[in-house]
Amino acid sequence: MRTILVASSKGGVGKTTVATNLAAHYAVDGKRTVLVDADRQGSSLHWCQKRAGMDHAVLGVDGTRRDWRNKVPDDAQRVIIDGRAGAMADELTSFLDAVDVVVVPILPSTIDIEATVPFLDSLAQHPRVRKGKLHVGLVANRMKPWTNASQYTLDLLKAWPYPLVAQLRDTQAYVLLAGLGKGLYDYRSEQVRSHQADWAPLFKWLKRVA
Ligand SMILES: Nc1ncnc2c1ncn2[C@@H]1O[C@H](COP(=O)(O)OP(=O)(O)O)[C@@H](O)[C@H]1O
Ligand SMILES: [Mg+2]
Repeated sequence: MRTILVASSKGGVGKTTVATNLAAHYAVDGKRTVLVDADRQGSSLHWCQKRAGMDHAVLGVDGTRRDWRNKVPDDAQRVIIDGRAGAMADELTSFLDAVDVVVVPILPSTIDIEATVPFLDSLAQHPRVRKGKLHVGLVANRMKPWTNASQYTLDLLKAWPYPLVAQLRDTQAYVLLAGLGKGLYDYRSEQVRSHQADWAPLFKWLKRVA
């Protein structure tokens, strides 16, 4: 079983988008996949419900309950945890103690980056992160590569000790797919493939560290 935590103290940065697309990818890849929703808004659980009748279903588990672990089947191969907004690392301890890797989505604006610094600092304090046992990767989300803001973001992120493991473009495809209980990896069209290419470095990194 491999467990990936998608987390940020900020809301609206793409935690659910990243978590659901990761889950869809692994499910389409034939892995028994569980999506644990630790956010009270329950967006990931709703996504799992929409997907329930389809091929490559993903089992949704309510991660706000203390006993969430008991609901994860022993034979699960991939567990994705959609973290809740507002939580700093010390509030995520029960997750951080158990996961194999952490993915932190970040939006390309100075305000967003500045707001995320305390969260990343708090992650760095966690003993497993400090000892290099738990890898943290940054995902720049809603990128518009042609804009100064996106370029500036890349420069800022490069200065940090965590690797930038993917840049996901800003596209309505994510908004649309989320509402359908789908992910990019449920499709094979040429257009979707170019979006999937954004995820390739993230999957490569995940294979290497987790
Ligand atoms: N790369 C993207 N391009 C366009 N819209 C996006 C992208 N990533 C996320 N969104 C949209 O932004 C909103 C917030 O994203 P969400 O994944 O729900 O963030 P969080 O879970 O961190 O609160 C959602 O409406 C989502 O569809
Ligand atoms: Mg969310």
